[in-house]
Amino acid sequence: MMLHIPGVLSQNQVAQMRVRLRDTDWIDGRASVGTQGAQVKHNRQLPEGSPLAAELGQMVSAALMAHPLFFSSVLPLRILAPYFNSYVGGEHYGLHVDGAIRSQRGGLPPLRADVSVTVFLSEPDEYEGGELVVVDAYGTHEVKLPAGDAIVYPAGSVHEVLPVTSGERIASFLWTQSMVRDDGKRALLFELDTNIQKLRTAHGESEVTVGLTGHYHNLLRMWAEI
Ligand code: NI
Repeated sequence: MMLHIPGVLSQNQVAQMRVRLRDTDWIDGRASVGTQGAQVKHNRQLPEGSPLAAELGQMVSAALMAHPLFFSSVLPLRILAPYFNSYVGGEHYGLHVDGAIRSQRGGLPPLRADVSVTVFLSEPDEYEGGELVVVDAYGTHEVKLPAGDAIVYPAGSVHEVLPVTSGERIASFLWTQSMVRDDGKRALLFELDTNIQKLRTAHGESEVTVGLTGHYHNLLRMWAEI
């Protein structure tokens, strides 16, 4: 399931981050990929574990975890420290898949990448090209969102970032391990949760909403791995 999550970061937070990223030293993006990714990845990113990446990453993680739509759609168990990247002058990241298991810094256990997240930090009119293209069972999806918005999609998807032919595309990206590994089950839970909330908003709490909420939690209990 792909989902657009609007307003993860406020305009103020985006502006603060952009100021901090303005004069930073980006390194070759191939530092964090395996041999397959290294052949197609042409961009720059903040050094993994650098103080700036850690500080801005905290802001991104906290904003995502506080967003009800992120929580209900991803059901995050663990969230990897966010990365930050920049594409200019034709840089791109060709078709690839992300590794399933990501090591974590600071002695933390490895994380299984279930859901990929990109948080856009440049406005769409600041650059040409640079669409995130995700291929799934329903076709090919091109994504280019306002600064502060996020897209979440299954980490197993084949995807690419098209060449940025003018301007600069800055984004943060990360992986999460979900309490519910299977994308189809996670999508069912999200749909059920969304409809329960709509029912509650329209008609208030009732025996039906309580019963359906119980059903939701029983499915979560059946499927969650924590
Ligand atoms: Ni990727």
